[in-house]
Amino acid sequence: MANLLDVSNFSVGFGSAEPVKGVSFSANPGEMLAIVGESGSGKSLTALGLMGLLPRHARAGGEIRFDGRNLVGLSERELRRIRGRDIAMIFQEPMTSLNPVLTIGDQIIEVLRIHEDLSRRQARERAIALLDLVSIPEARRRIDDYPHQLSGGMRQRVMIAIAVACNPKLLIADEATTALDVTIQAQVLQLLDNLRVQLNMAVILITHDLGIVAQWADRVVVMYAGRKIEEGLPGEVFDRPYHPYTNGLLSASPRLKADYHYRDGPLSEIPGSIVSAAGEKGCSFRPRCPVARPACASTVPQLIALPAGRQVACPYVPAIAEKAHVASVG
Ligand SMILES: Nc1ncnc2c1ncn2[C@@H]1O[C@H](COP(=O)(O)OP(=O)(O)OP(=O)(O)O)[C@@H](O)[C@H]1O
Ligand SMILES: [Mg+2]
Repeated sequence: MANLLDVSNFSVGFGSAEPVKGVSFSANPGEMLAIVGESGSGKSLTALGLMGLLPRHARAGGEIRFDGRNLVGLSERELRRIRGRDIAMIFQEPMTSLNPVLTIGDQIIEVLRIHEDLSRRQARERAIALLDLVSIPEARRRIDDYPHQLSGGMRQRVMIAIAVACNPKLLIADEATTALDVTIQAQVLQLLDNLRVQLNMAVILITHDLGIVAQWADRVVVMYAGRKIEEGLPGEVFDRPYHPYTNGLLSASPRLKADYHYRDGPLSEIPGSIVSAAGEKGCSFRPRCPVARPACASTVPQLIALPAGRQVACPYVPAIAEKAHVASVG
């Protein structure tokens, strides 16, 4: 059976640069998928591609099959019908996403009335119910507040209420809790997780925080320089990271290091930075890789499929070399 979301060989280009290069992953109702990777690895562009919100001058390639339709190449009009209703997104900074001159109630009501045939009174009642759903106390009174009257955590809850207003099948949270302090962050994540269950949504969580991934995600996709370089169950990936980049990422995360017993890499920090990927041959992690070989300079490593949905784009990982039954998945 097809998945709710099947992204295959998705790419994004600007001129000669290609910041997203043939990424594939899938998501299903009720599943929390995390996408991690360092700054500039193409996470947000991938998310914007899913929302049909890529900049006008971007070239998108490949397929984003959502509920049976390919979203790549749909007209703006068709995308607008899907966006906000079937696929919704919350961003890092709620103050810039909320309109400061409208009450939070009006902003929720606006979204409801774009996508659903409700009277103003019905929409207002739904908006109050949504504020309740995201645990805003005294929703009936707070609905007439302006964004500046709410704390950062409350504003992020309002953003979530707007995002889930039309029961989307897929919710994308791009660094949605990064700006919040740790306690509030945990509450917002708990809320997202509750909504995932209650509304049976697929949730894509984009984050730098591996601790969050370990605690909340069902599956994790690791991106590096525009490619997916590893995927698997968080417990397995963090316990035994295969790709040298994932290993480095974990070594640099002290909190997780205490919880997982992965082999200790030589890196406490990954040296260097993402190199400009335009026209580059070979593995993009090679300049920073502690186990690079000469062949890495000429061939882009293909993803190798392992049991339990694990994938890794490096043929020189001992766990891979040992296994006879692996198959390249392109
Ligand atoms: N509008 C644009 N025009 C040209 N290049 C862009 C544009 N938007 C993003 N890029 C490039 O694409 C690359 C990936 O960007 P993206 O925002 O997806 O990274 P990210 O993984 O979300 O990073 P971060 O963790 O910092 O949010 C970046 O190197 C960036 O320079
Ligand atoms: Mg980003």
